[in-house]
Amino acid sequence: MARKVALIAGVGGMCGGNMARMLHDTGQWDVIGVSRGDPELGDWVRHIPADLLDRDKTMAGLTNISDVTHIFYTALLTGKTFDEENELNTRMAVNFLDAAVAQAPKLEHVHVLEGVKWYGYHMGAYKTPAREDDPPCVPSYFYEAQHAHVLKLQQGKSWTWSTTRPGAVCGYGNGARINLMTVIAAYGTIMKELNLPFYFPGDEETYNAITFASDVGILNRAMLWASTDPRAANQAFNIGNGDSYRWKYMWPRIAGIFGLEPGPVKNMNLVEFMSDKKDLWNSIVERNGLVKTDLFRLAPWSYADTVFRRKWDNMISMVKAYQFGFTEMIDSEEMMKNIIQDFRKNRIIP
Ligand SMILES: NC(=O)c1ccc[n+]([C@@H]2O[C@H](COP(=O)([O-])OP(=O)(O)OC[C@H]3O[C@@H](n4cnc5c(N)ncnc54)[C@H](OP(=O)(O)O)[C@@H]3O)[C@@H](O)[C@H]2O)c1
Repeated sequence: MARKVALIAGVGGMCGGNMARMLHDTGQWDVIGVSRGDPELGDWVRHIPADLLDRDKTMAGLTNISDVTHIFYTALLTGKTFDEENELNTRMAVNFLDAAVAQAPKLEHVHVLEGVKWYGYHMGAYKTPAREDDPPCVPSYFYEAQHAHVLKLQQGKSWTWSTTRPGAVCGYGNGARINLMTVIAAYGTIMKELNLPFYFPGDEETYNAITFASDVGILNRAMLWASTDPRAANQAFNIGNGDSYRWKYMWPRIAGIFGLEPGPVKNMNLVEFMSDKKDLWNSIVERNGLVKTDLFRLAPWSYADTVFRRKWDNMISMVKAYQFGFTEMIDSEEMMKNIIQDFRKNRIIP
């Protein structure tokens, strides 16, 4: 295969950072990445520091990218309100795509990472299992504006686009990004230390509802597949592990990974609960010779407080991806075990 060049917006993030590493590991890709901070990936990635909210600086900063063949857009900013989130993320994507597409004459494909919020998962009960041809939610989430901009830029061009729509993306990571697994790893460690049961820190409705997860490795390989397999050109794909689960059955299995008794549902607020546990965490780290981490930088507790109180079902159909040619899947319990094992191997938890 001729060497490909990826330009990844959000290269320091959970999805973008893992994507960069996966492409690099194939030995067939050069990787250029954009983010404000240092992605701390290694010198194999050419990092372009840029604040995508600033149009002039983005236009001026994205230079020497004429060899780029594939663009992956994975940048994300959370807002205090959905209106703010929509404005920030639409602005970032428009600035980045305008700058990048204009300067990439060899461009073959643009992939934009979306998610189940396309269907309105963040707003309340939505039609499940979600199919890619279901309409986007109303009021719309920023994915829709980003998608519309890609379609506009594509007019009259030979490059193709694709999008993937994951649910909770799970992977090994250290940093308060949106990652359920850092939450579970740190929470399980603290409950064990305190000799407390592994309470489900949410509400009954969420405990009973059906949900799903997306392993970051599967997601990244699906993004690569959708961006390079001609069958997937100009298509959107739901991407999850291939199964669904209810916390009420999954939670006791996760408790087992920590050797804990599964606790009952306890409507506790994790941000509050963890607020006086920093010293405890530091002593666990020191006593076990772990990598030094800050409890509030390690795991996104406020995100967890939202996820464990979603109440409604969250489920996608992955039939379209299977039929178009992406057939990878993993049992979600196995995924969680593997990731927690990675946290242990990397000395983040004992
Ligand atoms: N994580 C999940 O569970 C999940 C689930 C479904 C869908 N998704 C979707 O997947 C996409 C990526 O999510 P993620 O979880 O990987 O996000 P993330 O870990 O928070 O990463 C976001 C990236 O965007 C960069 N960024 C933020 N603001 C920027 C700015 N102004 N200029 C330049 N770069 C900026 C960040 O780097 P700097 O801060 O250094 O700039 C970081 O590299 C999003 O569209 C999200 O909606 C994620």
